[in-house]
Amino acid sequence: MATLEIRDLHVTVEADNATKEILKGVDLTVKQGETHAIMGPNGSGKSTLAYSLAGHPKYTITGGSVTLDGEDVLEMSVDERARAGLFLAMQYPVEIPGVSVSNFLRTSATAIRGEAPKLRTWVKEVKETMAELQMDPAFAERNVNEGFSGGEKKRHEILQLELLKPKIAVLDETDSGLDVDALKTVSEGVNRVRATGEVGTLLITHYTRILKYIQPDFVHVFANGRIAASGGAELADQLENEGYEAYTKGGPVTGGNSGGAAA
Ligand SMILES: Nc1ncnc2c1ncn2[C@@H]1O[C@H](COP(=O)(O)OP(=O)(O)OP(=O)(O)O)[C@@H](O)[C@H]1O
Ligand SMILES: [Mg+2]
Repeated sequence: MATLEIRDLHVTVEADNATKEILKGVDLTVKQGETHAIMGPNGSGKSTLAYSLAGHPKYTITGGSVTLDGEDVLEMSVDERARAGLFLAMQYPVEIPGVSVSNFLRTSATAIRGEAPKLRTWVKEVKETMAELQMDPAFAERNVNEGFSGGEKKRHEILQLELLKPKIAVLDETDSGLDVDALKTVSEGVNRVRATGEVGTLLITHYTRILKYIQPDFVHVFANGRIAASGGAELADQLENEGYEAYTKGGPVTGGNSGGAAA
């Protein structure tokens, strides 16, 4: 079983000629087959964690380690990470003018599998998965995310998830902006992948409504650039009722984080 291990991860970003530390010692282990939810206030660094795992050049790793099955992820290029089995569904998926969905998916699958998928089975697989996600087949010929509605972009992220079959999937607010039916459709896609037992999922979300469909094995509170507390599914309900105040004000924080500034 593949294991993603994040140890004491520190990440900075350059903004306005200053270096700002966003991640301040993230510790997290995600195993294939497990579903982890990460909840936390706006600006606490959740997307920064997702981008850092994916290898976004804007984020500088200043300390700690990330390994996938013992292999150093931080040493890998973005495409090496994808081939190693890491997948990121972005909070704000980017448009790729001039590249059709169909081309994009086939190129990605070829890169990740190391060989081009057989055309016949591939076309069938794409069609079936799109149908399950209730995406109009016409999307295959449209340019990636160009003119897609918010919900259509999120479905397209899950289409990639289902077709690329990663070992570890980071889903950054895949539920935000979805209507109730779309939320259900997208959740079913995630659950189909989950049911294979071959993906470890890191679900970043603000709302427990998606967790009613995708029941997490673990829930983590993300605050001030690190994981401030961890628990089971009940922690999500507690957060929804009580908010994050206890975790953002140097309150009852577990894991030795007493709010002291990192040197
Ligand atoms: N590329 C960047 N340039 C400047 N500042 C950045 C950059 N990326 C992140 N930050 C800052 O880092 C902090 C954390 O941002 P991040 O997007 O990781 O938060 P988040 O927890 O995902 O929030 P949200 O719940 O609103 O999505 C914010 O203060 C943000 O402004
Ligand atoms: Mg975010």
